[in-house]
Amino acid sequence: MKRLLPVTAIIFAAAFVAQAQQKIILDTDMVEIFDDGIAMMMLHLDPGVELLGVTTVVGNSWVSEGTAWALRQLEAVKAADKVPVAMGFTRPLRPERHATMPLERQLFGVGHDHWAGSFGYPDPGTWQEVYKKFYGAEPVVSPIGQHAVDFIIEQVKKHPGEVTIAAIGPCTNLAMALRKAPEIVPMIKRVIYMGGSFFRQGNTTPAAEFNWWADPEAAKIAVRTPFKEQVIVGLDACEKITFKKHEYEKVCGIVKNPIVKRMLDTNVLVKLYGENADYTHYIWDVIVAAIIIDETLITEEVTLPVDVCADYGLSYGQSLAYIRQGPAGAQNARIIKNVDKDRLWKLIYDYCGKF
Ligand code: BDR
Ligand code: CA
Repeated sequence: MKRLLPVTAIIFAAAFVAQAQQKIILDTDMVEIFDDGIAMMMLHLDPGVELLGVTTVVGNSWVSEGTAWALRQLEAVKAADKVPVAMGFTRPLRPERHATMPLERQLFGVGHDHWAGSFGYPDPGTWQEVYKKFYGAEPVVSPIGQHAVDFIIEQVKKHPGEVTIAAIGPCTNLAMALRKAPEIVPMIKRVIYMGGSFFRQGNTTPAAEFNWWADPEAAKIAVRTPFKEQVIVGLDACEKITFKKHEYEKVCGIVKNPIVKRMLDTNVLVKLYGENADYTHYIWDVIVAAIIIDETLITEEVTLPVDVCADYGLSYGQSLAYIRQGPAGAQNARIIKNVDKDRLWKLIYDYCGKF
């Protein structure tokens, strides 16, 4: 008869795995699949990650949409009852930014990426309405009642020194958590952003990348905070990893999960690649998830003092790195400049097959 492992060995093994796992809070302006959705599902499925929760913030999407789409994708990976979703700020810090956006685009111009996320269309209503419209069914679970900011504060205090905050959307929730509870700063293990663009043009304006353009004041508060460590995955790395039609089709061929497959089949990318076979997209947030899973993917980085321009003008949301001396109060950040493209895509395809 096969000898059963002593219970103590199993308990120790489970404790060891739990201890070795990175505790991650994913703060996101969630979308279906690429890029925030794939990033979230990869993180949840990685054995080295404990996804403590998902906090939604306005940016690429409205919080109602981001919440519905996060819940549905957590359902897809059978995590809807395991990973809490907490709803966050539905507006950036600058008053009336959505209302004045049409004029702002005239005033300050538009970058190479015309997409303006939630600034380009009206709030669609409640997360329940979005869920039913997209999925024709009643939601399986609801977001928790706790606000995203309070969830972040509570989880960091519950796990001092252990929590990584992956900020893959505008930094509004993160900034307000830091303002509400500055005592959590030394308790945060590290912050990893998808945001900014230091050595190349922005995408949303020539000066600014979308996430930090969407709420420059919040990004400035965040990057100027003396975290133990902050890692920035900006366009400097992200725009070196193009996402072309053949990669999208390869993902479509690999994914078996019916919920994810339907999202792939109905995604706007199908239309964009169909209209222009040479259309180039990017995977931005997925790179953050990938380097959390395997930090050896990073092939080039530089640590410099950084800041964000929060003056309402042509440079609003611009991220700045200081080769010599930064402004008073600026903090150092690890700016990721490149990753191993082949190993990155292998990891992405591998995880897409696990959904
Ligand atoms: C960032 O903006 C969003 O569109 C993406 O999800 C990514 O976080 C890229 O500028
Ligand atoms: Ca995002």
